[in-house]
Parts: sequence; C-alpha cells; structure tokens
Amino acid sequence: MFNESKLKQVIALTQECNKCAMLHFKTFNKNSVNFKTDNSPVTQADLEVSKMAVNGLQKIFPDIKIISEESNKSQKFFKNNKVFWLIDPIDGTKEYINSSPNFTVNFALIENRLPVFGLISQPHSGIIWYSFRGQAWKIEPKQAISNAKHIQCSSINYDKLRILSSFNHRSTELDNWISIAKPISDSHIGSSIKFCYMAEGKVDFYPRTSPTMEWDIAAGHSILKAAGGNIVSEFGLEIQYGKVNFKNKKFLAFGKTKQRIPSKLLLCLNKIDINKYEDDLKTGVKALKNKNLLVFPTETVYGIGSIGNDEKAIKSVYLAKDRPLNNPLIAHTFSKNEAEKYAQFTENSHVLTKKFWPGPLTIVLQTKKSKLSDTLSQGKSSIAIRVPSHPVALDLLEKVTIPVLAPSANKSGGVSPTSAQHSKDDFGPEFKGPGWKLEKILDYGSCEIGIESTVVDCRGENPIILRHGSITSDMIFDATKRKVLNVKDNDIILSPGQLKSHYSPKAKVYLNQKTNINNSGWLTFGNYPKSLQKNQNVFNLSPEGNLVQACYLLYSGLRYLDSCGVKIIQVMPIPQKGLGIALNDRLTRASYKE
Ligand code: TXA
Ligand code: MG
Repeated sequence: MFNESKLKQVIALTQECNKCAMLHFKTFNKNSVNFKTDNSPVTQADLEVSKMAVNGLQKIFPDIKIISEESNKSQKFFKNNKVFWLIDPIDGTKEYINSSPNFTVNFALIENRLPVFGLISQPHSGIIWYSFRGQAWKIEPKQAISNAKHIQCSSINYDKLRILSSFNHRSTELDNWISIAKPISDSHIGSSIKFCYMAEGKVDFYPRTSPTMEWDIAAGHSILKAAGGNIVSEFGLEIQYGKVNFKNKKFLAFGKTKQRIPSKLLLCLNKIDINKYEDDLKTGVKALKNKNLLVFPTETVYGIGSIGNDEKAIKSVYLAKDRPLNNPLIAHTFSKNEAEKYAQFTENSHVLTKKFWPGPLTIVLQTKKSKLSDTLSQGKSSIAIRVPSHPVALDLLEKVTIPVLAPSANKSGGVSPTSAQHSKDDFGPEFKGPGWKLEKILDYGSCEIGIESTVVDCRGENPIILRHGSITSDMIFDATKRKVLNVKDNDIILSPGQLKSHYSPKAKVYLNQKTNINNSGWLTFGNYPKSLQKNQNVFNLSPEGNLVQACYLLYSGLRYLDSCGVKIIQVMPIPQKGLGIALNDRLTRASYKE
C-alpha cells in the first residue's frame, strides 16, 4: 500500500538525491562526461543518484521492480510487470552539463501501464512536485509536506493558447503544429519541469514530435493528470508505459479542457496534408449519409461503418462481411453524452467510461426506448456502444451526427484489419457486391493498439467481460472494485459474437509450440529456438517479448504468414497475464477448427 508514511519516506529519499546531485553539480567538470551507446551524455551525478534512488526505493517497496534510465540491467529484466517504478535520476543532463539549474530527479510508479504516482524534484531550487491519490501538489524549498500546496491546470482558452515547445528538439512537424495552433506565446524550459508548469496552469500545450523515453515523462504525466490535464498519442490515447525499450512515440501534453482536443492538433504531430484531411472527412461523411459503407481508422482496428438509422444500410454491412445476422454491431458515438441518449447507463458503466473513454472499451447496456435506439440496437433489448479515441473517427462521428455501426473491416471469421491495406485486400478489387457498396477507405496508418476493444456487459452488479482487449480484467476491477466475471463461451445470449472460431487465417493454427513441423510458418514471441533461424516463414510478434508490441503486430503477423502460403502456423507460448490474456484469446479462436 502506498500510504502517507511511504510518501514521506519517498520525499525524504528525493531530498537525499537532491543533495547528492547538488554536491556533484557544484564540483562538476565537463571533462568527466561519458557517453552512452546512444550517444547521450552521462555524468557521475546520473550514476550516483540512480544508485541512491534504486536502493532507497527498494527498501521502501521491497516487492516492486525498479527500472532506472541508468541501469541497463534493470531494463533487461522487465517482463511486462503489472507494477514497476520508472526512474530518471537526472532528467535534463544536457542542462546540468551546461550549468543550467533546470535538471530534475524523477520517480514514477506504474500500474497497469499507467502512472499512479509521480514525483519531480529540482535539486537546484529544492522545489518538489508530486501527485498523490489523484491530486497534484507542490512543496516549496525547505517546507514540510504538511505545507504542500494544491496545484491545478488552468482551463484552456483556445483563442489564447500558451504553449511550451522544446528549443533543442525542433522538427518540421513541430513547426507545422505551431503554425496550425497559432499560440499567443511559446516558452522554453528544459527537462520535465515542463509538466510541472502545465500542472501549475502556466501553459496549455506541450507538443512533442521528437523521441523521448518513458522515464522522461512518466512522473510528469502523473502530476499533470492529477492537476486536470493529460498526455495523449496522435491517436488520442493516453500514453502507456512498458513499451518496447521504454520508447515513446510523439505526444501532446495538455491542461484542463472541456471540449475534446481538436483533431488537427493531434493529427499534425505527424506530417499530414490538412486539405486532404478535410476532403477525406467530407467524402466519408457523404458516403455514410448516402447509406454506403466507409472504412475508417480507430485506435483498435479499422472499422467498416454504416449510418445507424437506416436498416438497409445496416444490412449492407452484414452482406459485405458475410456476417451472421445474429451477431449485432457496436454503435460508435463521439461523446458519452451522445451515448447516453441510446443506452441506460449504470453505475459501473459511468465509472468505466469516465476512466476509459474515449478509448478501446465497448459497454453493453439496456437499450433506451426510441426509434433510433431500436434501429441502432437492431431490435435487441441491449446495445453495445463505444466512443473511440482516434481523431479521424471522432471527427467523422461528430459530423455525421447519427451514431455509426461498425464492425472490424474484414470478412467475417477472418483476421481483423490494422491497416487500410488489410481492408483493401478483403473487400477489393470491386469494393461492392449484391446489396453493398464500400464507397471509400480512409487510410491513416496502422492502428495503435492492434486488437479490438474490450467488450464489457455493464448491466448487472458485476461487470462481465464478453471480449478481452487492451483494457484488462485487472483494470476493470481496479476501476469498479467489483469482481469481474468472464462470459462462458456457450453463453450465446450474452455474447453472440464470441464464436469459438474467429480471427482465423487460412492456415491451421497450433498453439504453445516448441518443436518444428516441416514446412510450417511460425509466430514467435521473444527469443526463438536456434533451429528456426533458417526458416523463412517466421514472424516475430516481439523480439523483446513485449506484450504491447505483440498486440500491435498480431494481425499483421497472421496475415503475413498466410501470404507466405504456409499450411500450418505454429505459435510459441505467450504469457497468460495482462495483455497476454487478450492475445491468447484471439489465438485460441484462430486455432479452433470444428
Ligand atoms: O475495437 C472494436 O470494437 C472494433 C472497432 C471497429 O470499433 N469493432 C469491432 O466490432 O470489433 P465487431 O463487430 O467485430 O465486434 C463486436 C462485438 C461482437 O463480439 C458482438 O457480438 C458484440 O460486440 N456485441 C455487439 N452488440 C452486442 C450486444 N448487444 N450484446 C452483447 N454483445 C454485443
Ligand atoms: Mg470482428
């Protein structure tokens, strides 16, 4: 348990680290700098503070694994842990080397891939910022914890944006982002102090297009979130931790916002042609309003959508996919308010959607009585509904105004699509058939998560998982504090889509494989046997054995091995924990043969 007494011990430990860093800072000599294999500088202070922090935290939390920027060994032992510490002993080493006071010590506690505690201290000033039990705090130099001041982000005024951009890390994307956001001020400050400034309400946005590591941002993320802001990826998903080699992609950090972040500010983290985007949106909205089908990206997989108020259009999804008519579709809306028009929300659904929407969670609820709800739920008394986080999907849904019914954009029973090309392969070259027409495929790269949303029945006292996904059973339990139930495969009434055989490639799939069968293809995970090294048809889901990456690559891997023409796909064992549960669920169904 992380209680107040432990918090005091962690703060005392940071103060020790601060002293150690300052001792080195005062006697620092530029000639003593070494360089790591990635060419980044490392000083004696980095190493000494790392040792002190790791030893100190280990004493306070003996059961929790600690990963430090300055300990390669700790990084190698990471095994998709549910809980772990991420430490950056000195963030802003370059500032430190240049005698600037803006370097910090950073501790973050990660649980279920998200930061639940963060602490940043600035040795030079003695200021400490931290998050605790969902609130953000600041301790001024030489003050006691009892005098910590509560801090909060200020509400973003989109007409008067104040941003922080990195001086040292300019890129054409960043310049482009700034030209679109048109801020009234752009400040520069080194290290993770950026997040503390946002948490104190001094700035609204911090866009980052150049690489960062997880320990650079995790503590700041936790403090910012507790102060009312957050950090999201270009797909609008909260940044998660425990990724391959602890590397982040581009992100946008922001303060408090009532409206959703304008899609352009997310999409522009990448090189994108905004005029083409506007055209795509127009064509997409028109296709749906004309009752034709549209393939569009979400953060999970690509969806094939039809407008939700027209029975003929809805029927055409089933025809395009060859989908059994008794398997209902998920309604997608652009906000929770919108979803509440069609579904009777329960306490569990409020708690879960507050935490995980927009994002990869579908909830099943009682359908509200109305003509549109009836059509959306396809005459059932229950409705499955979700608000995706992908900016393209949200813009579309907002412009269409009617919810969009969208299953994964692949042929029924086959492998789901995580790129526009996958959908082209499945529905082309004609893109139409008796009773259906696919008007357009919106191509916005690969989906960040790679497997479909978690489906949870929220009608009763206990949440029931109808389909596993990247929001895990542990995360649902932690949010609702209720025992989480699993649907049994044969409970067809609760879960019409949980077919034993699904996600199936053309080849036969064998699970938990260790020895090679002649001419088979392999889906491997982590280090694979030397004997396979000559096999051309090997697809590694994650050489590092990372489950986030394995989810991302699962469907590409199955599709790739099918394209090699192998008759059998052998799958190495994948740990049955965290995201591994959703992965194994997909693979088990892919392997099922009547
Ligand atoms: O990530 C996703 O959820 C993707 C993207 C496109 O949003 N969509 C998706 O849809 O995976 P689909 O149709 O492939 O899967 C929908 C699942 C099926 O298992 C279906 O049976 C279940 O949701 N479902 C839909 N309505 C339901 C209901 N009223 N009660 C129980 N399960 C329902
Ligand atoms: Mg599907």
